[in-house]
Amino acid sequence: MKDHHVIICSDLHLCHRDWYGPTGEERLKEWLFAMEKTYVNSPYSHVFMLGDYSLDFWAWDIKGCYLNEGKSYTARFIKEFASRLPAPYQMLAGNHEQYGEEKWQELTGNSRKWAKKVGGWLFIGCDNFAGNLDPTEHSDGTYTPTDLAFIKEQMELYPDTPAILLSHWFELTKEPQEFFDFLQKEKRITLLFCGHDHLNKITDLSEYGAEVSIYHDGNYSYTGKPQEQLWGFCELTLSEEGVAVQYIEPATTLPHDPALHHEERISNIRFFKRRF
Ligand SMILES: [Fe+2]
Repeated sequence: MKDHHVIICSDLHLCHRDWYGPTGEERLKEWLFAMEKTYVNSPYSHVFMLGDYSLDFWAWDIKGCYLNEGKSYTARFIKEFASRLPAPYQMLAGNHEQYGEEKWQELTGNSRKWAKKVGGWLFIGCDNFAGNLDPTEHSDGTYTPTDLAFIKEQMELYPDTPAILLSHWFELTKEPQEFFDFLQKEKRITLLFCGHDHLNKITDLSEYGAEVSIYHDGNYSYTGKPQEQLWGFCELTLSEEGVAVQYIEPATTLPHDPALHHEERISNIRFFKRRF
């Protein structure tokens, strides 16, 4: 297996709100430009997106635009941005995309949960906000614990293949001990990825009894500490030995107060060794 690159990103939030100056459209244009530039420097075969492309069902302030006006920013995000990516992509729903299975497939072309083998690795997309779909009221999503039966079923279809779990979020206080026991026992699972908190950090699950980590894939919208951590996405290098991950923050200058500026930065560089 030769080295193989994929990209993981989330929390892009094309919606009726702006952050740090530019409009959502200007911000997403920057994202697309940065994704293209990364592709030229280091071609990737696939993009996995972990949710929150919109605020279509937003419970706050002026509320989401899908129930109020029938406007889907998720659909706009796909048409104007995702469809222009230089590589194939797959999308998980976030807690702001409560579209039921049928509508989700119509919008994205993929199910709300899926598995895809890329570069000799199995990526399993978990649907952890599967409660109260197709709602008639605005809400911020309903968490459902990770579907272990689905993961086991997919892993059986791809024997001897190392796996990476993806989800918009893993709410550790809402997962049963069985989840952590499964991660500890199933050595083919090398690493987990999530978004949702908009941070780029690594959560070690050893205190829960699982010697495995969750890599948080940052955001391309907003963060509580914009001077320290701004927009970005994860680049993975897959090999026989394991997965190397780094967070790419493209060079940015924004008319925020105080202004936000940094050159391209690479952070949280980590290698996760195969566990079997
Ligand atoms: Fe979220």
